[in-house]
Amino acid sequence: MSLQQQVTQEFERRFGETPAFVVRAPGRVNLIGEHTDYNDGFVLPMAINRAVWMAVRPRDDQQVTAHSLDFDETVVFPLTDLQDEDAGWVEYIRGVAWALQEADYALAGWESVVAGDVPIGAGLSSSAALEMATARAFAAVSDLPWEPKVMAKLGQRAENEWVGMNCGIMDQMISAVGKADHALLIDCRSLETQSVPLPPDTVVVVLDTDTRRGLVDSAYNERRTQCEAAAEFFGVPALRDVSIEQFEARAGELDVLTRRRARHVVTENARTLQAAGAMRQGDAGALGQLMNASHASLRDDFEVSSDALNAIVDCARQEDVCFGARMTGAGFGGCAVALVRQDAAQPFTEHVTVCYQSATGLTPSTYICTATAGASVV
Ligand code: GLA
Repeated sequence: MSLQQQVTQEFERRFGETPAFVVRAPGRVNLIGEHTDYNDGFVLPMAINRAVWMAVRPRDDQQVTAHSLDFDETVVFPLTDLQDEDAGWVEYIRGVAWALQEADYALAGWESVVAGDVPIGAGLSSSAALEMATARAFAAVSDLPWEPKVMAKLGQRAENEWVGMNCGIMDQMISAVGKADHALLIDCRSLETQSVPLPPDTVVVVLDTDTRRGLVDSAYNERRTQCEAAAEFFGVPALRDVSIEQFEARAGELDVLTRRRARHVVTENARTLQAAGAMRQGDAGALGQLMNASHASLRDDFEVSSDALNAIVDCARQEDVCFGARMTGAGFGGCAVALVRQDAAQPFTEHVTVCYQSATGLTPSTYICTATAGASVV
């Protein structure tokens, strides 16, 4: 049974009628452009065929009731008195309610059944998917205009200020704005987007290392601070404003660590723009090379990879059908992404699984992904 059917059936069982709306918001995988979003730079993610689904109907009081099939838990809270209770998944829903109200939207209450198949904590943006599904649900029941970029920014605000994770705009943007069969080149300063197709006869494969790192948040914030210091050194608002030439002219004046961090961001922005160009030309080989270079930069200059990520990337690249592979998302654990010949994707995942198991003793999960649309009422 599909997740759409599951949330619909459970909704009918609990509430005795068909839902007024079913909404869906996807997780994402980033093809290239890592740790560039909070530097006002470029990212190139795609929304994937794994999502959060909500069956929902409005209530005429100011109450929200959400039942999660995944956690087998029901939560109830009033919109009139939002309190952060640090209560897990519900804080993403509550945080979005808070951010929408802070932006002066008049919200109706609702009741819903929620389920998802974005693996949690794997770096595929399960939290952004829940945030954007929540925003879509509020918009549907409260009859608000659906403005995906505005909603993405409010989702980011919920994540930053309610949940307390200081993320950039990429995850909420792609979950809100994603296009079927395309990746999106996002300018994280202007929020302009361009859709770019995957090269013909290729497919994106996500490789989950089965490792999670607890210290991601502090390392992430540390990288942000280092990038801000580098931007200040160059006298610009963000590292987005530094070209490779400008960087090289003054790199010698920077301390070693700041130089490495800045070099990653400056070169990654350039690679991301080149990658979009390669995709438009249908050049899988060029895109794969750029992904490989991105991994090296994240590993050596930005220092956010891990042994497990390096091992799975090596296994992927050993296969001739792989055009390129890199870690994806914040790093330190979670997933890698590979661009693979479409007709060979299944055996590719099997070979990588065997290789990674023998290298690390861990069992990876693999997902052959298609690019889907962003948050929508289905
Ligand atoms: C996490 C954050 C994003 C982005 C990536 C790194 O996924 O949520 O905003 O910074 O890390 O590219």
